[in-house]
Amino acid sequence: MKLPARVTVCEVGSRDGFQIEPDFIPTELKVEVVDLLSYAGVPRIEVTSFVHPKVVPQLRDAETVMAKIRRRPGTRYAALVPNDKGAVRAVDAGVDVIHTVLSASESHNLANVNMTIAESLEKLRAVMQVAGRAGVPVGCGISTSFGCPFEGEVPVEQLERVVGALVDMGAHAIGIADTTGMANPRQVARVFERLVPRFPGVEWTLHTHDTRAMAIPNILAAMEYGVTNIDSSIGGLGGCPFAPGASGNVCSEDLVHCLHAMGVETGIDLDRLLAVSRRVQEIVGRALPGQIVKAGKSDRRYPLPDGVAARLPRAG
Ligand code: COA
Ligand code: ZN
Repeated sequence: MKLPARVTVCEVGSRDGFQIEPDFIPTELKVEVVDLLSYAGVPRIEVTSFVHPKVVPQLRDAETVMAKIRRRPGTRYAALVPNDKGAVRAVDAGVDVIHTVLSASESHNLANVNMTIAESLEKLRAVMQVAGRAGVPVGCGISTSFGCPFEGEVPVEQLERVVGALVDMGAHAIGIADTTGMANPRQVARVFERLVPRFPGVEWTLHTHDTRAMAIPNILAAMEYGVTNIDSSIGGLGGCPFAPGASGNVCSEDLVHCLHAMGVETGIDLDRLLAVSRRVQEIVGRALPGQIVKAGKSDRRYPLPDGVAARLPRAG
């Protein structure tokens, strides 16, 4: 396999995860989770979103969360915005990076942000202006890049048009998102095989959901095409409230365990990350989909069953 030496993980659990939790997570617990994640050495955190508080009431405390987190040098704190109003709020709250959202499919864009793709692109142009004046970098995410829960498979040409429109307005960091876990590894490979040479200079991110258990295989496929920025979510929280059937993101600690097992560096302390996952399970009051929290790391060893030690053939 042709794998990069290092991958930059962006934790999105406090945004993609907490936005779809049935109960409002109290502000101080959100702050605690973000601070535990930075303590674990997570280099990028999408902390929250600056969207309409009636549309996503779970994140209506975005300003307070941003104000209360302890900024760890070495962690870059981002927030998601759909429009310039959100960008102004994010800049005022002191984010390091703005992440924007629009979809590759018209139906999901309307369901999610109440705009056609063309209308969204106009809003994102205004976001870029707000961010540019404030000196805040922007990363542009594209939801339903591979498949849409309303329209089905999204043709790569359609995705490419949206990427092209973003690049034309000055985007140089683009996130390709599989919002409802419809992509498969061969499709991911085909998409990056096409996009990477067509848009040189773009820094790519892959955002996956494990709805159909293809998230890690999809990430490996993207890594083979040089994608080194990967979104993931602690415990495997996550899901879009405006995409029926959406479920959790790829689980951060499972992804980091997999990367470390292959010798790919992340700079993250996996034991601390596992502790965050256990704390998040307490907070949401249920077991989360992560596997490593249950199974332990692959270097876990068990005592031999009775009588086995005496019968082991001696080496040499
Ligand atoms: N933050 C707070 N308020 C906002 C806002 C933002 N980012 N954007 C718009 N508003 C307010 C406007 O000021 C206006 O307020 P008013 O009625 O008091 O004048 C009101 O919302 C309506 O504005 P409009 O531009 O018509 O918005 P809308 O009702 O069409 O909603 C979005 C559009 C994008 C704001 C809304 O659909 C949204 O927040 N979507 C986010 C969805 C999401 O987070 N999905 C999950 C992540 S992928
Ligand atoms: Zn998502």
